[in-house]
Amino acid sequence: MCGIVGAIADRDVVPVLIEGLKRLEYRGYDSAGIAVIDGRDVRRVRRTGRVAEMEAAAGQEGFNARLGVGHTRWATHGGVTEANAHPHISHGVALVHNGIIENHEEQRERLRQLGYEFESQTDTEVIAHLMHHYLKQGNDLLAALQRTVKELTGAYALAVVSRAEPERMVCARMGCPLLIGLGEGENFVASDVSAIIQATRQVIFLEEGDTAELTRTSVRVFDGDDQLVQREVHLSDVSLASLELGPYRHFMQKEIHEQPRAIADTIEATIDGGFLPTLFGANAEAVLKDVEGVQILACGTSYYAGMTARYWIEAIAGLPCSVEIASEYRYRAAYANPKHLIVTISQSGETLDTMEALKYAKSLGHQHTLSICNVPESAIPRASELVCYTRAGAEIGVASTKAFTTQLAALFQLTVVLGKLHGRISEEEEAGYLEELRFLPGSVQHALNLEPQIALWAERFAPKSDALFLGRGLHYPIALEGALKLKEISYIHAEAYPAGELKHGPLALVDADMPVVVIAPNDKLLEKVKSNMQEVRARGGELFVFTDQDSNFSESEGVHVIRTPRHAGVLSPIIHTIPVQLLAYHTALARGTDVDKPRNLAKSVTVE
Ligand code: M6R
Repeated sequence: MCGIVGAIADRDVVPVLIEGLKRLEYRGYDSAGIAVIDGRDVRRVRRTGRVAEMEAAAGQEGFNARLGVGHTRWATHGGVTEANAHPHISHGVALVHNGIIENHEEQRERLRQLGYEFESQTDTEVIAHLMHHYLKQGNDLLAALQRTVKELTGAYALAVVSRAEPERMVCARMGCPLLIGLGEGENFVASDVSAIIQATRQVIFLEEGDTAELTRTSVRVFDGDDQLVQREVHLSDVSLASLELGPYRHFMQKEIHEQPRAIADTIEATIDGGFLPTLFGANAEAVLKDVEGVQILACGTSYYAGMTARYWIEAIAGLPCSVEIASEYRYRAAYANPKHLIVTISQSGETLDTMEALKYAKSLGHQHTLSICNVPESAIPRASELVCYTRAGAEIGVASTKAFTTQLAALFQLTVVLGKLHGRISEEEEAGYLEELRFLPGSVQHALNLEPQIALWAERFAPKSDALFLGRGLHYPIALEGALKLKEISYIHAEAYPAGELKHGPLALVDADMPVVVIAPNDKLLEKVKSNMQEVRARGGELFVFTDQDSNFSESEGVHVIRTPRHAGVLSPIIHTIPVQLLAYHTALARGTDVDKPRNLAKSVTVE
């Protein structure tokens, strides 16, 4: 969704802002803009569409400045127009904003009465006018910001510059991530470390309620009571290579292929030291031993990771486990059992629905919370008691791939740790699970080798308008994930069902035009799945089956089979995710859609 970058330097910051905005493109946006302080003037360029168009316009106008802010906007309040794009300006004060100001209508009315006129329909413009209002009263830029944010209800990350104070930039954070990058004689602000990684790796993550002031050579951070505070400096491990495409055609393809490495990194500590509670934090042992059940909350692909984990947690750890879509949970009168561990799953750590569900769970009396997340220092892990960071590396493609399989790897480790702490797993079983994990990256690599075969299948999917995905047990969530991937990037309508449910309704959809993808590993449900497949064949449906090397399956008319490596036991859902990702990717490729930036979607969903 929206992205922020700002820079103050002794060199032209325009290329820094443009490059930063390009690196934020993956989050999803529909307009972009920059504002720079050029001498005693504020100059601004905004465009709907891509950053490249805005860059061209800035080039034509000869922008060159030592201080400026930039923004990619994903429209919420007001349509996709140049007037609604950021930065917004009020009498020489320019600012960019991520988040939503809930009391903007009330502030708008008040500011109108004070004589301010509005050019946009955004909630953000009220912040620009409030800033000017407090500057006019004699406050300096920082004090004006500190007064302004106290008037705001809602969520914000803000970066502000003013033509009256060309030697500094100020910023603030509440509910949306914002960090400061420390350079040599130059400093930066960004909503995401990828926006400034070309300039510096040293970052300060602002905390809730913080404001900060940056000059070229200094950074001062203030807490919510406007007291000067010291915040830790981190060395970011995001690499430039992870943000570059390399030899791949799309980030999604790159990220699919990075999965053996991403999974190996995520399970590294367990492979080296066994299933230890410390993977989830220093006091995890006491917490995990004490819980009597698990409630998982997540959205989208992360929700499907949670659904898979439910099968594991109940079967292996012997604890009751519920999984719920965060946006549903947060608005229902849920029954809370404070002895149940709340597990939130979010690759971005910023998803508003998941964050709000977590807060709601706490308000209901849940004391123990654990977050599985891929982005260090993001909001959800910061609000959680225990954390496990997946080590997928930056995921740029909007469609989640390596973040999902690493979430599964983390959830499996959680399952075994819970099972051990609750005395449900013998030493022998534990050794077996460790062995299965050890094989996992290699098996994922084998599954990736199926890409040429899957690409041939994709040619047949490309002209279709609908597809059905079937799975049973542990593989039902993978069928759901396969259908979601196909929908997201190829825009083919896809549904997933537990195969046993087919005859209760969806079978009516099956005809010769409906491809039916079946995830049919060699497990105890295989014979059941085969019967369900017969139901499809008898109605003329064409089957595309993913099974294992060692299962007794043969191709026949209308039944196409691709075999993943040997059956991966309890970790089989991770292996069977790879082919459905590749199928979606190659189908989208054949249809010529924008694979990495599918229409209407954003990488981090920070709105309701
Ligand atoms: O960052 P999160 O994992 O919390 O995101 C949740 C969903 O928005 C996300 O998984 C979405 O469904 C992806 N586009 C899936 O590919």
